[in-house]
Amino acid sequence: MKIIHAKNYNDLSRKAANIISAQVIMKQNCVLGLATGSTPVGIYRQLIDWYNKGDLDFTNVVSINLDEYVGLPVNSPQSYHYFMHDTFFNHININPENIHLLDGMNPDAVYECRRYDQMINENGGIDLQLLGIGLDGHIGFNEPGAAFDLETHCVRLTESTIEANKRFFKKQEDVPRLAYTMGIKSIMQARKILLVVNGENKADILRKAFLGPVTPEVPASILQLHNSVTLVADEAALHTLL
Ligand code: PGA
Repeated sequence: MKIIHAKNYNDLSRKAANIISAQVIMKQNCVLGLATGSTPVGIYRQLIDWYNKGDLDFTNVVSINLDEYVGLPVNSPQSYHYFMHDTFFNHININPENIHLLDGMNPDAVYECRRYDQMINENGGIDLQLLGIGLDGHIGFNEPGAAFDLETHCVRLTESTIEANKRFFKKQEDVPRLAYTMGIKSIMQARKILLVVNGENKADILRKAFLGPVTPEVPASILQLHNSVTLVADEAALHTLL
């Protein structure tokens, strides 16, 4: 694993955006695995800025998002579909046909998840997967205890995740209890992984993920076994790891 130290959130965003940017320049039709959450927002902002300056072209880029809440329509501001368009896709020249997200309104979980796995395969797999980490060690919505050999599937969110994500909703009861997520197996099949971690509150879980045992109880710990992981983290998140 490569560890890239960032001084602060802005620095983290620029360094991680540089890695994504290099991927897009080196392979114009690359497949990017993208993530939601607070941490990637600065990265998307930076990429938009470089796009506006003419340094980046997303015409042939394919995007595949990690996860989506079950039961939120695409026009719900809390859906990841809405988030990705509002935060990133609406501001760059990605071809809408190349944007892939799980359909949280599809009640047929088995069909929806198989469709997604097939779509990932048809696109030749993911070149670079952007990931955040949850306070409980989740990656995507793979919560503690998730089997390592799962592809896309439906999950029940843990109380810790519901608690962490309620900030995006009016009240805690509004946070969906179910989500569709790419599984650990799908994530591990990405050729490269870019993990971004910011803030003191992530320091403990980051240490467990990389210095602790590889265990489903800490889903991100599986990344110890991936042969191309780059971690970009700020000093506050890194201080217990180094
Ligand atoms: P965050 O979420 O970037 O909002 O902290 C990370 C995650 O839960 O994967």
